[in-house]
Amino acid sequence: MKLKIAVLPGDGIGPEISAVGVDVMSAVCLKFGHEVSYEYALCGAAAIDAVGNPFPPETYEICKNSDAVLFSAVGDPKFDNNPNAKVRPEQGLLAMRKQLGLFANIRPVETFECLLDKSPLRRELVEGADFICVRELTGGMYFGEKYESDDRAYDTNAYTRHEIERILKVAYEYAQRRKKHLTVVDKANVLASSRLWRKVAQEMAPKYPDVNTDYMYVDNAAMRLIQEPKFFDVMVTENTFGDILTDEGSVISGSMGLLPSASVGEGTPVFEPIHGSWPQAAGKHIANPLAQILSVAMLFEYFNLKEEGACIRRAVQASLDQGIRTPDLALPGEKAYSTEEVGAWIADRISAE
Ligand code: IPM
Ligand code: MG
Repeated sequence: MKLKIAVLPGDGIGPEISAVGVDVMSAVCLKFGHEVSYEYALCGAAAIDAVGNPFPPETYEICKNSDAVLFSAVGDPKFDNNPNAKVRPEQGLLAMRKQLGLFANIRPVETFECLLDKSPLRRELVEGADFICVRELTGGMYFGEKYESDDRAYDTNAYTRHEIERILKVAYEYAQRRKKHLTVVDKANVLASSRLWRKVAQEMAPKYPDVNTDYMYVDNAAMRLIQEPKFFDVMVTENTFGDILTDEGSVISGSMGLLPSASVGEGTPVFEPIHGSWPQAAGKHIANPLAQILSVAMLFEYFNLKEEGACIRRAVQASLDQGIRTPDLALPGEKAYSTEEVGAWIADRISAE
């Protein structure tokens, strides 16, 4: 297969993990005889510094004309503590999602047996946890009408029936391919937008009789994730709730550096780790590249290249089993490897397999 990939390294640790993602992607393509080409583009603070726009039109064009986007991270502390900043790196990520029509963000939470003791939860709670969060990505408060003055500010949490139906459809289709259990997470006891979500979900549920649908308030879901993560198979929720719940979900498996994601919808799909740009670690070569590498696995799987994805997953598993780990996952007294060492080990393993 011919694959044209837009690479958006972004900020902070982004460029370091991006380079590893590209190396792993190249190793897989070489092994399986795929022809891959990369085009690099600016986004986030790097793009603000260069051209004053966190998602410049040239970047959009490159993304639009590619088969997939390999995205890393955006964010820079110089904007975080300045509420007056007119333009922010994160706007680049949001603009990309919106302009490419990527309304569904798929965030799988899996656990690795050899990392269970790294989880902040007790082993027996986490062992076997395996669920997917389907997060709506182009609606809700992130994109609703906003107002900001010194005395008053608001964000509007607006959803249309169409937006809710299309994300529920994605979630139902995942549930059908998995354990056939869908949890619709909302705050229908308080929010009008959530009541529409629940209403639409209740209308759609009978069309998927093979799936067991349940409904849960988001505060309860936050608790249940910690108390009984194994309860979940597929959860679907709005943009803001999904953002919050997936950070919570990601640490269940031991490190936030492990969780990949796929953003899909109308335009070019984007594959990105769920973690941020971790600016304090930039240039230190300590960032865990596994979320980025697993995003590459999701990229191949999106194109139905299952063996390519599986080969990456086996190499990641082997690196963890053999202790080739960045500091966040290294065992006490064991050597910690750099971002690049872990990446090179995994790429070599793929080539040698
Ligand atoms: C994520 C991130 C982004 C979000 C930020 C960087 C804008 O936290 O992908 O979860 O809130 O969607
Ligand atoms: Mg987030």
